[in-house]
Amino acid sequence: MNVHDSEQMVELLGGQGYKTTDDVEKADLIIFNTCSIREKAEQKAYSELGRCRKLKLRKPHLIIGISGCLAQQLGAKFFKRAPYLDLVFGTHNIHRLPEMISHVEAAGSRVVETSFHDSVRSLGILALPRNGSISAYVTVMQGCNNFCTYCVVPYLRGREESRKLQDIVNEVVALADHGIKEVTLLGQNVNSYGETVNGCSGFSTLLKEVGGIEGIKRIRFTTSHPKDLSEDIIRCFAEVDDLCEHIHLPVQSGSDNVIKKMGRYYTSGDYLDKVAELREVCPDISITSDIIVGFPGETEEDFQKTVDLMEKVRFDGLFSFKYSERDGTAAVKFDNKVSEDVKGERLQIVQSLQEKHTLERNRALEGGVEDVLVEGFSKNCRDDVMGRTRSNKIVNFKGSADIAGKTVPVKITKAYLHSLRGELVWAKG
Ligand code: 5AD
Ligand code: SF4
Repeated sequence: MNVHDSEQMVELLGGQGYKTTDDVEKADLIIFNTCSIREKAEQKAYSELGRCRKLKLRKPHLIIGISGCLAQQLGAKFFKRAPYLDLVFGTHNIHRLPEMISHVEAAGSRVVETSFHDSVRSLGILALPRNGSISAYVTVMQGCNNFCTYCVVPYLRGREESRKLQDIVNEVVALADHGIKEVTLLGQNVNSYGETVNGCSGFSTLLKEVGGIEGIKRIRFTTSHPKDLSEDIIRCFAEVDDLCEHIHLPVQSGSDNVIKKMGRYYTSGDYLDKVAELREVCPDISITSDIIVGFPGETEEDFQKTVDLMEKVRFDGLFSFKYSERDGTAAVKFDNKVSEDVKGERLQIVQSLQEKHTLERNRALEGGVEDVLVEGFSKNCRDDVMGRTRSNKIVNFKGSADIAGKTVPVKITKAYLHSLRGELVWAKG
């Protein structure tokens, strides 16, 4: 979501004559797009921002802005923390960036804008792909109404708001015209897409519509909430050819007690049923998830249930986090907080078990042939190209740059933890 917000800012600033640079010393404008979902992300933002202080002393005309969740949360208080800042704007104000920058340029005065708007206009900013990219993000909804007890998102991104189906379709058509082959439909809770749009029967309708757009070969979506993953949506994995066989379905915990206290409204049994349904409809589906360890009150027994659930599901990949207390969320008031040491131990257990499962799932692909959408040269070797399987696994193989943007069959010869090695079978048009 944040990456896409940054792309939209680049697009808007391009209209004002700004160009991107990889060299921070050359920049006339720096915007930090921040996340505050966990404390670690917040600290990272502060330390990056701190580095700009010296830069501003050397280059007084440099404009420094901060956006995203942390900006939304602190607003004008940010100026106290970082007096060299020029601009603070929140998650609902991206569309106003050109106007805010012009104001700073002309008046040299600070701007702060963190108000929420009923209709998030920045949802409709078309961020055209940079040269050569083959994938793009398309926001379909933003905000969240779920208020999981640990999470700041509903407070910082506001309530759920879905874009009109036709606007999304038009945007995907425009991206296809610019050579995009793969779109990822984005939202905090895409499964509840359409609940705020009259006359739209929801996310499965959207998937089918986008699935019919010429030029787009692959569709992905993220993120899903298990309670809103309907049969209709699950069936799309069989019915919409371009929908890739991958779902990110955060479970957060395997303990019913903890899931309940997290305010997630499903049980571990419900989750396992969804996994079974997904695998029945789409046997090769890759399933990834998020898990939080050390939520307040999580006992050894609760934690063991998370491990048991992981053993049952055997995720293809997992993002795991230590519970991080966030101001303003309900869980701040929960007792029986878990110590940092215990959180660390539990995280270690989850991560090493996941490594075993990821490797096992990747190895199951060895010897088979996968359709790989080629993105370009590999990071480490210029004789290799890299692409992704439909299940979203990275594959490196010998090939030349002219197959970038094409889907080619690749035989998987070796599986690693973070990628696969393969050999081109033959090049399709
Ligand atoms: N502490 C730890 N992890 C969190 N997440 C969200 N809020 C917190 C928090 N307070 C994790 C969840 C979510 C992912 C995006 O971040 O697992 O799915
Ligand atoms: Fe946060 Fe829960 Fe909404 Fe996800 S569904 S953004 S975890 S409140």
